[in-house]
Amino acid sequence: MEATATPRTQEEVKAGTAKVTVGEVTLRKFELSDVDAMMAWASDPEVAAFCRWEPYESTKPLLAFLRDTVLPHPWFRAICVSGAVVGAVSVSPTSERCRRELGYVLARAHWGKGVATAVVRRALRDVFADLEPEGLRRVEALVDVGNLASQRLAEKAGFRREGVLRRHYWHKGRARDMVMYSFLSDDPLPE
Ligand SMILES: CC(C)(COP(=O)(O)OP(=O)(O)OC[C@H]1O[C@@H](n2cnc3c(N)ncnc32)[C@H](O)[C@@H]1OP(=O)(O)O)[C@@H](O)C(=O)NCCC(=O)NCCS
Repeated sequence: MEATATPRTQEEVKAGTAKVTVGEVTLRKFELSDVDAMMAWASDPEVAAFCRWEPYESTKPLLAFLRDTVLPHPWFRAICVSGAVVGAVSVSPTSERCRRELGYVLARAHWGKGVATAVVRRALRDVFADLEPEGLRRVEALVDVGNLASQRLAEKAGFRREGVLRRHYWHKGRARDMVMYSFLSDDPLPE
């Protein structure tokens, strides 16, 4: 896709008032100084509803997560819109070298603009380019049956819905049914 960006101010981007084009979305490694930007989504109960973590109440534990988990992680990227950090995408190792698991989160101000779909497509291209020589053949995403936005996103990004894993995941006090999605190294990326 083409980068058709027109200049945006950081304030517009942070507020989510700028109309975003795919070319404005970039990925980069996290830095400790990103902690304040991360609080925008990490402290939001609506964002956290389907995520493993509880909303953060202060930056101190988030900084520890950034230092101890994010920075050493083999593939954990900041989602940037016109340079401002607005979310995160990760592709985590599993017990099998051929298979990794996708995760993503976006600050609420940026939902519904196609940002996550663009990010997931880009992440798939990048991880297979990096890791297919090491044996990566499948990226999977496990999505709560109630998380309709995430299911739609996975399908738009080219994932195949394989089925529902019943009572698969202990989530905030309840065993949840999860939809299993996969994208294989030889699946075509949608335009
Ligand atoms: C899931 C998430 C990353 C989607 O980000 P996004 O940038 O808004 O996604 P996109 O705009 O690329 O696509 C979302 C699609 O879901 C659709 N959608 C949104 N809410 C929906 C709902 N309640 N029911 C059905 N579809 C919905 C949108 O209309 C859009 O589809 P469309 O382009 O056909 O209209 C974002 O909502 C988020 O961060 N959620 C909280 C964290 C989370 O749940 N992470 C995933 C854990 S598996």
